[in-house]
Amino acid sequence: MGKVYSLLGLQWGDEGKGKVVDHISKDISAAVRYQGGHNAGHTLIVNNEAIVFHLLPSAICHENIKCFLGRGVVVSLDALFEEIGDASRIIDNIETKLVVSPACSLIQPYHIKLDQLRERSHSSTTIGTTGRGIGTTYEDRVGRRGIRAIDLFNETNLHDKLKEALDYYNFLFSNSFKEEPIDFHQIYEKNLMQAEQLKPLIGNVSNEIKNLIDEGKSVLFEGAQGALLDVSLGTYPFVTSSNVIGGISSGVGISPTAIDYSLGIAKAYTTRVGEGPFPTELNDEIGKFLAEKGGEVGATTGRKRRCGWLDAILLKHAVYLSGVDGICLTKIDVLDGLDTINVCTGYESKLPVEDILESMNLEHLEPIYTHFKGWDEPTYGLNKFEDLNKIAQDYIFAIEDMCGVPIVMISTGPKREDTIIRNLF
Ligand code: IMP
Repeated sequence: MGKVYSLLGLQWGDEGKGKVVDHISKDISAAVRYQGGHNAGHTLIVNNEAIVFHLLPSAICHENIKCFLGRGVVVSLDALFEEIGDASRIIDNIETKLVVSPACSLIQPYHIKLDQLRERSHSSTTIGTTGRGIGTTYEDRVGRRGIRAIDLFNETNLHDKLKEALDYYNFLFSNSFKEEPIDFHQIYEKNLMQAEQLKPLIGNVSNEIKNLIDEGKSVLFEGAQGALLDVSLGTYPFVTSSNVIGGISSGVGISPTAIDYSLGIAKAYTTRVGEGPFPTELNDEIGKFLAEKGGEVGATTGRKRRCGWLDAILLKHAVYLSGVDGICLTKIDVLDGLDTINVCTGYESKLPVEDILESMNLEHLEPIYTHFKGWDEPTYGLNKFEDLNKIAQDYIFAIEDMCGVPIVMISTGPKREDTIIRNLF
């Protein structure tokens, strides 16, 4: 009997989900994105070629896996077709493997323009977004005026909706930002042209997935970004605009009880891209060491990731909120060679920790650290838990104790085989 898996980052994204997808791809028949858009980024090495996926589920490069973009995803058709074109170099018949929900909201050029103008305006709400129009498209979605994939197939409808949208956005561009307006005809024609290209990809995502599950096939839901970037439960306003935690049901159209096993991914330290509070951030030599050794550069924007110690308070909270059954701990080898490894196990603050976590306002917190001795014997490339040095093992046991769920998988290097499997699934 197949299983339904969910995979989700437990920090601020970039935890290294690709490794897990790689690992379970042989057991799954379908991979599904349910939120976010092309703000995500996974770099995969296929036949010695690096390929970056932003919108497509990263499992698409594995054989016999059908891939789905559920209704909760915001889709830039430019990005989708570019990614398909790029991936076609190494993946055959990509179009036959992909199904897009007609209920997906479309990212239009005015969404991207407004996102970027706001970011450049240096107002108090500068988030450090990826500048891809993600938040602005979700704004239109909840404002019930967004253009969805289905709208491309009704010319009159599309015409009227785009016209209304441009009246609104061009007013903003001219008056608030003193910018040139966007030409209606150009984007209307482009949408119609892209409709033809999109047509063969459109399908009934929720039904197809339900049928696969009923047939006993295994399905993987790939969360993008990370739990702490969730619009409702994350470090608001420094978040992305979708529900990373618990978004599967509304983002695909299946029951929340369909998930058999949820795996959370966490780095052995913490990184963050963009603005927002980060209590354990290290602006020192150790921060630089983690960034360089961990290759901490964003796959989507090329920005340097901020680095810091593992925050066990936030990790435990993300585990609790998301209800993951186990954790995959990644990049433990990056800690090889450090004299001391710190883990945040409390905060000095005026408010009780529970109240801080309810608002997720993490400003002005002084982390309280538990200190672990570093290890001399490297963990790099190991694939058996018994081969890990005793101190690294104790570090892992301590994180398990703090979070209350088992660490079922440990990544010890970038290669597929640099992985320790303990009791996965
Ligand atoms: P947006 O999703 O482009 O609106 O950006 C909002 C915040 O989420 C910014 O801090 C981004 O850096 C962050 N973000 C969005 N996608 C990712 C991701 O895939 N990994 C890490 N951070 C992300």
